[in-house]
Amino acid sequence: MTPPSPSLLLDWYDRHRRVLPWRLATGTPDPYRVWLSEVMLQQTTVAAVGPRYTRFLARFPTVAALAAAAWEEVAEEWAGLGYYARARNLHAGAKALAAQGFPRTGEGLRAIPGIGPYTASAVAAIAFGQPVVPADGNVERVAARIFRVETPLPAAKKRLTELAQGWMTDAGARARPGDFAQALFDLGATLCTPRNPACALCPWREGCAAQAAGVQASLPRKAAKAARPTRHGVHFLLFDDSGRMLVRRRAEKGLLGGMLEVPGTPWRAEPWPDAEALAHAPLPGPDWRRLPGEARHGFTHFELRMTLLTARLPGEAALPGHAWMNPAEARAGMPSVMHRLLDLLDSPAAAMADRGQDSF
Ligand code: ADE
Repeated sequence: MTPPSPSLLLDWYDRHRRVLPWRLATGTPDPYRVWLSEVMLQQTTVAAVGPRYTRFLARFPTVAALAAAAWEEVAEEWAGLGYYARARNLHAGAKALAAQGFPRTGEGLRAIPGIGPYTASAVAAIAFGQPVVPADGNVERVAARIFRVETPLPAAKKRLTELAQGWMTDAGARARPGDFAQALFDLGATLCTPRNPACALCPWREGCAAQAAGVQASLPRKAAKAARPTRHGVHFLLFDDSGRMLVRRRAEKGLLGGMLEVPGTPWRAEPWPDAEALAHAPLPGPDWRRLPGEARHGFTHFELRMTLLTARLPGEAALPGHAWMNPAEARAGMPSVMHRLLDLLDSPAAAMADRGQDSF
């Protein structure tokens, strides 16, 4: 089967492109804006990124502004977007880019700390018109279907990236690499969707091997995933006399590095018996009360289940490695997992507990 022509896809894009905050109607986009949008879009939906992208740019309008910001400010602005390593990489990358300017090629961009192969290709194509095809999940799916690649992901990834890059041998695609990349993103997001692809509307229908064979909805195949293990944590929410809450900052390296959290036990495979958990409380003594219910949060490699103990401290206590913060301010600097935990305070069951249940 003859693969479909890139020009057909570009014509479709000219008629149906999505209006998105990081897309200009005309002209060359600013590489910083393209880079930011690509980093935000890596693990977060277009709908969720939209307002956050605009807000982030209002706070850090240039790469120099981002480079000059303290990590705490960047982390606060990223709160709730998840995958904080992305924000760390963005901040580290901004420092390098502010010093040396934006490289224009994929290779040059890949040499910047925190810019991986996908992001480098996306910025090279969209901001600098380089003839590369960035292969994200959407593009992999389109390529798997057009060429009917039956090998499951992730083993098929390299082959799919090469097949996608093959589209750049076409003169039409080479003339508009940024639009071609975004046309693939839009096709994958709106028609060539994971389930129930809308083949009747697809500009590439004629050249799609999977469609011709009727197997499009089953591609790309995925290798069976190992079940996500469960981990357990107990957290200690301490308020002082003036209603401030005790927080600590996580270690710089590792999961949610440098983010604020409610102090707690380590997260481990076995549930915590109360006595064992209490040994990890930030200080001994207060009358801890367990809030009813359990908060859950899915990380990539495990599912976390957390319970929350609260207490009020009469007077002041300075605790090394911890800080007292106004709850709204603390929440703003916390990742989603901590928002889930603090939601236990607002649940109807928690309201019951306020009337004195479940103390120990
Ligand atoms: N997904 C990844 N990058 C994108 C972009 N620039 N536009 C729309 N969706 C995307």
